[in-house]
Amino acid sequence: MRKINVFDTTLRDGEQSAGVNLTFAEKLEIARQLERLGVDIMEAGFPASSKAEMKSVREIARTVKNGSVTGLARSVKSDIDLAWEALKDGAHPRLHVFLATSPIHREHKLKKSKEQVVEAAVEAVKYAKKLFPVVQWSAEDACRTELDYLSEIVEEVIKAGADVVNIPDTVGYIHPKEYGEIFSYLKRNVEGIDEVILSAHCHNDLGMAVANSLAAIEHGAGQVEGTINGIGERAGNAALEEIAVALKIRQDYYQSYFDIKLNEIKRTSDIVSKLTGMVVPGNKAVVGKNAFAHESGIHQDGVLKEKTTYEIISPEMVGVSSNSLVLGKHSGRHAFGARMKELGYELGDKELKRAFDRFKDWSEKKKEFTDADLLSILMEERAAN
Ligand code: KIV
Ligand code: ZN
Repeated sequence: MRKINVFDTTLRDGEQSAGVNLTFAEKLEIARQLERLGVDIMEAGFPASSKAEMKSVREIARTVKNGSVTGLARSVKSDIDLAWEALKDGAHPRLHVFLATSPIHREHKLKKSKEQVVEAAVEAVKYAKKLFPVVQWSAEDACRTELDYLSEIVEEVIKAGADVVNIPDTVGYIHPKEYGEIFSYLKRNVEGIDEVILSAHCHNDLGMAVANSLAAIEHGAGQVEGTINGIGERAGNAALEEIAVALKIRQDYYQSYFDIKLNEIKRTSDIVSKLTGMVVPGNKAVVGKNAFAHESGIHQDGVLKEKTTYEIISPEMVGVSSNSLVLGKHSGRHAFGARMKELGYELGDKELKRAFDRFKDWSEKKKEFTDADLLSILMEERAAN
């Protein structure tokens, strides 16, 4: 069984979803939950993009103790310096530096020749390695890049000191078979490739981000990047919870695993959905509200006789509680605190009082509260204080 590193970019690529604009407090809340989920690496943001982003990346790096916090930088020294300022106090700082490699990007966006792109990438990695213990380099739009040129630039950044090389499908264009072949090709043709971790980063424009990520794992990727609920630019990024569960359920096939707490998945999904405002569709795999609902008579009959007739994932595995305790208008502070504790939040006296007061206000208008509602109340409370 091979451990695949989980690189979460909910707070960077995910936050690039149209309409999403997280506050400082909301980003910290999501970061804390990602730490609880157990991601290996979390990309907290793009420090050079604004002062506010710099501040939140720095605070997240200082807060998260388990796992590594990273930040994005373009291949320019000023971005790398700012990223170091933001990340240097973290437990395991690492940089994510990128440069586009495809002909379309070279010609229209960068206006650089192939040689100039290699030179800029190498220079950026060498400079970053003077500051950061771990440097990841990404070939933006790798999947529309000439394969021989991609191999050449990957070999050069490895020589320059990159520790992780990411092959993004930036525009969600590739097919799983082709994506797997890119990884195999690099494994066969690039000198030094076995000294680095190859990473997959897939967008979902053609609905294949998760399938592509799994194909990359089959062909040697040791790290997978994605977001919770698959949020992200345009049609989003690969949904990490789907990959995690696919690896678990089809262990026999993939012989690989994500070392995360699967039973934190639902809570993480609820928090990200609530704070980003990106609603999870009911039929979304793993975390949609219908993911474990059986409607038709034949299915219900089957499940009552033996769950596995129609259920390949147990709800409990991903933290969907079968708890039937309903909180409402007449519930007391003790029950409220106990439920919060079950949900993973041990509240101090003052926070419990404030959150409970907020719950009471809500219960004037609302009859029953689901776990997601309770988490929303707590998030609102934390954002307000
Ligand atoms: O999709 C992409 O290419 C990216 C890079 C910055 C890695 O998000
Ligand atoms: Zn991306």
